[in-house]
Amino acid sequence: MKLTIPDFLIPSFRTNHAGETGAVFIYKAILMVSRDSEVIDFSKSHLKTESEHLRMIEEILEKKYRSKLIPLWKIAGFLTGFIPALFGKNFIFATIYYVESFVEKHYEQQIKSLGSIKKYTNIKRFIKKLQDDEVSHKNEARFSAKKFSTLQVLWGRIVNSGSSFAVKLSKKI
Ligand SMILES: [Fe+2]
Ligand SMILES: [Fe+2]
Repeated sequence: MKLTIPDFLIPSFRTNHAGETGAVFIYKAILMVSRDSEVIDFSKSHLKTESEHLRMIEEILEKKYRSKLIPLWKIAGFLTGFIPALFGKNFIFATIYYVESFVEKHYEQQIKSLGSIKKYTNIKRFIKKLQDDEVSHKNEARFSAKKFSTLQVLWGRIVNSGSSFAVKLSKKI
């Protein structure tokens, strides 16, 4: 049975689609730069999950509802992986930790907005499954990382504001 996205949630799904597109490009960029086997294994397995998220969203979100700025989300994602990868392993793990902490909250808002209305059970379950994967990515990054440096915390803030801005924009266009 195909899932239906309630009308009021279409703009949010446009942001989800933009975000999962970005996520795929984060890992593509990391894999282009990093020669560290731990990072490569981590990124390959995350890339697989993110590609699957993107595929599932594309199955239920019609093309006409998707963001017109997809090339921008690809570039933004790419840079979010490429820049930290130049600074090494801990920077990569810090980035993933901050990105996924953001996405966890982003999905949480949508889950909350669906409340406990019965006809939304399936779509809620779908978002919850995405969120669970992102939380496990977040925990894996936190677990693999050493203590974050001041610079990494600062970078995390930049990533966070960039993500908020991307959500605002992709909600509209
Ligand atoms: Fe994802
Ligand atoms: Fe993720």
